[in-house]
Amino acid sequence: MSPIKHPPISLTANFYQLGTPAFPAFLSMGEIGMLIEGGTGPTFPIIVEQIRTLGISPEKIKYIILTHSHADHIGGIPHFKRIWPHIKLIGSKVADKIFKKKELFFDYLLADTAIAQLMKAKDEINDLPPALNDYHFELDSSVKEGDSIDLGKGIIWDVYETPGHSPCHICLFERMEGTLVVGDCTGFYVPEKDAFWPNYFVSLEDYVNSIRKLATLPANRAVLSHNCIVYGKVREYLQYALSATEKYHREIIERLANGETVEKIALDKARFVDSITDIQPFKIMYDLSKLMINRSQKADPNISFEL
Ligand SMILES: [Fe+2]
Repeated sequence: MSPIKHPPISLTANFYQLGTPAFPAFLSMGEIGMLIEGGTGPTFPIIVEQIRTLGISPEKIKYIILTHSHADHIGGIPHFKRIWPHIKLIGSKVADKIFKKKELFFDYLLADTAIAQLMKAKDEINDLPPALNDYHFELDSSVKEGDSIDLGKGIIWDVYETPGHSPCHICLFERMEGTLVVGDCTGFYVPEKDAFWPNYFVSLEDYVNSIRKLATLPANRAVLSHNCIVYGKVREYLQYALSATEKYHREIIERLANGETVEKIALDKARFVDSITDIQPFKIMYDLSKLMINRSQKADPNISFEL
């Protein structure tokens, strides 16, 4: 039998990295298991195969928890729901409201299909995800700041509300092993290029405050929802994320003050993102860059970036 292309990675005795490096999901095992992140349509079969390789019965996996509702973090859910209907889907209260808007699911499917096509073009998957009759789903339960999810054997995940990247974003912290699930709270980091693309799509103030909140936790490792695991030195990583955000924001403000147009700056920023990653189409990078210029314009001029 040929080895699988993306073998599961044991990050601790109870915690595994699944999916692909660009689109990871995580599996936490106590008495019962919880998948963290909903994956994408194209990474769904990879995650299923990885769980099979680990010899873990899907029946033991009771929950999937979403860090947030963005398309590249939920595309696997309709597929998981079909094959493993026993798994309960958890997210924030804000995500709960978002998923009640059925009309959003067409956009989610378009974004997921674009990701699948990019992955197929790079030969990362053999086939596009199977078409389903229905892609809509809702959460089975929602969580808020201060809630905990107990998986047994001492594995308890605490919930922290961390808006800024999205209004519905939550991070998770597991006390026994000191694992911090960062999601997209600190932006998009590409360690091989040492490049940071800050992601304050909703509010710069909220984004900065959320990173500060994470710095209060005694984390031994931080897992990001794209590209990277931070081993130790979590506080230094969070400081780096804040510094990158400050640099990005100040450059935008300076260029606007010098008379450059929003479109020109957004195009430059989208080109920068395109030079560090190809996980989303260029048009999305451009639109998101434009959005962040707007957030920088609206931000408090005296905003602090101190951890
Ligand atoms: Fe996101």
